[in-house]
Amino acid sequence: MPDAVKDRVASPSSGRRRFLAGAVGLAAAPLVWLRGAAQAGAEPRLVEATLAPAPAKVRLVPEQYAATAVWAYNAAVPGPTLRVRQGDRLRVRLENGLDEGTTVHWHGIRLPNAMDGVPDLTQPLVAPGQSFQYEFVVPDAGTYWYHPHQRSYEQIGRGLSGALIVEEREPIRVDRDVLWVLGDWRLERDASIRGGFGNFMDLSHNGRVGNTVTINGHVPESFPVRAGERIRLRLVNAASARIFGLRFQGHEPRIVALDGQPVEPHAPEGGVFVLAPAQRADLVIDMVGDPGSRHEVHDGFYRNLEYRLIEIAYAAEPPLRARPLDAPIRLPTNPLAEPDLARAERHDLVLTGGMMGNMRGLPRGMAWAVNGTANSCGSGKVIDPLFILRRGRSCVLRLVNETQWHHPMHLHGHAFRVISRDARPTRYREWLDTVLLAPRETAEIAFVADNPGDWLLHCHVLEHQASGMTVCLRVA
Ligand code: C2O
Ligand code: CU
Repeated sequence: MPDAVKDRVASPSSGRRRFLAGAVGLAAAPLVWLRGAAQAGAEPRLVEATLAPAPAKVRLVPEQYAATAVWAYNAAVPGPTLRVRQGDRLRVRLENGLDEGTTVHWHGIRLPNAMDGVPDLTQPLVAPGQSFQYEFVVPDAGTYWYHPHQRSYEQIGRGLSGALIVEEREPIRVDRDVLWVLGDWRLERDASIRGGFGNFMDLSHNGRVGNTVTINGHVPESFPVRAGERIRLRLVNAASARIFGLRFQGHEPRIVALDGQPVEPHAPEGGVFVLAPAQRADLVIDMVGDPGSRHEVHDGFYRNLEYRLIEIAYAAEPPLRARPLDAPIRLPTNPLAEPDLARAERHDLVLTGGMMGNMRGLPRGMAWAVNGTANSCGSGKVIDPLFILRRGRSCVLRLVNETQWHHPMHLHGHAFRVISRDARPTRYREWLDTVLLAPRETAEIAFVADNPGDWLLHCHVLEHQASGMTVCLRVA
C-alpha cells in the first residue's frame, strides 16, 4: 500500500468498546465477542488517503528516452492504488495542485450523490490550491477506478487516474493478484505529450487514440510468470479513447468480473477480450505454458494497427503445480437489487452525430447528441435532467447508437444489467457500469433506480463526453 494510504481500524467496535468500558466497566464477554469479530476480518474500517493532483515528471518510455511532463496524483502515473475491503469507509482528501479546477469521480462505486465528483452537478469545482474531502462506504467488491470529472479529455489524458480495488470478504484462491492499468498517450519523439487536446477532429471521430500504450505507467516489455501459477488479472482501461481487443496467446483466460461486478466465469468470445475506455475486467489465468517459454498478448482491436502489448515470460523454474489449481473461481455476488422487467419503466436514448453522421443544428463545438440534445459538464452550467426516474423503480433504457462510431456509455451511481443487444438476449446478463455500443448497435440495460440524485450518463470516449454525448438522469 502506498504511503499516502494510511488505514486504521476505527469505529464501530472501538467506539462500542469505549462505551462498554465507560458504562458498565470491563465486561469480559463482549470483549471476547469483539475480538472474535475482528479476527473474522469483517469489521468495517476507515481507510484514509490523500490525492494531490499536480504537474510531475514520470518515465513512461524506456530509459534511453526522456521523462515525460504529466499531471499526476501524488506524482505517480497511475495514481496510488487504493485498496479497501468491501464495506469499508473511504475518506479521501483531494488537494488540488493543478492550475485549474478539478474533482475526483469514483467510477463505478455506488455512493451518495454528493460524493460523485461531477462539477456543478454534485459539487462545486475544487479551485487551484483548494481541497475537498470525499467520504463514503464502499458497498460492492471489485475493480474500480478514480479520475477527475473536469475537462476529463485533458486531465485524464495527461495522466490523472488510478485504481480503486475493493476486496471481497471471501476472495477466490489465486497465487497472485495483479493489476494492469492500461494507458494510452499521444507522444512526440522526445516523449513529451503532444498538445491539441479537444480538437474538433478528435471530438468528431473516434477520440484521441494515442501512439503509445502503457501498463501501470510504463511501456511494457515482459510480464514474468511461473509455470503452474494461477493469476487474477485486474484490467482497467484508463485510456481516453482507445478500445483494446486482447488475445492471450497460448492461454485461456476466464472472465470472472466485468466493471467490478461478478459474472458467470466464461472464456472471452473467440478468444478476444474487448475492453472499452473506463471498463474493467477481472480475469483468472492459469499459467499453463512451459518453463522458459514466451507468449504474446496481442491487441488487434483496430484493423491495421495491431501490435504486441506485452510478452508473458515464463521463468525457468519447474512448475508450481502439475495440474491447474482445482479451486472455484466464481466470485461472491454484490448486493445489487434485481430489476423487475415486467414492471419496468422504459425509455429510449438515441445517440446521433459524429463525422459521417448528422451534426446539423448542434451548438458550436458539439459533435454528438442524445435524444437531440448536446451537453457537456464542467462549463459552469447545470445539465437539466432528461427525465426523472422514480426512486426504487425498475428501469429499462434502450440505447440506440445511430452513429458510425463506438461509444462506451457509462451510468453514474448504479450498476445495470445488459439484457439485450440488437434485440437478442445477452448470454450472461452481465452487470456493468459502462456498456460498449458498436456502430449502429442497440442495447437494453436494466437496473433499479435506487440511488437518489442527479446522475450522468455519458460516453466515456472523453472527447465525445465533452462534445455532446452527456445527459443527466434524476432519481427522485
Ligand atoms: Cu469514469 Cu462520468 O466517468
Ligand atoms: Cu462516444
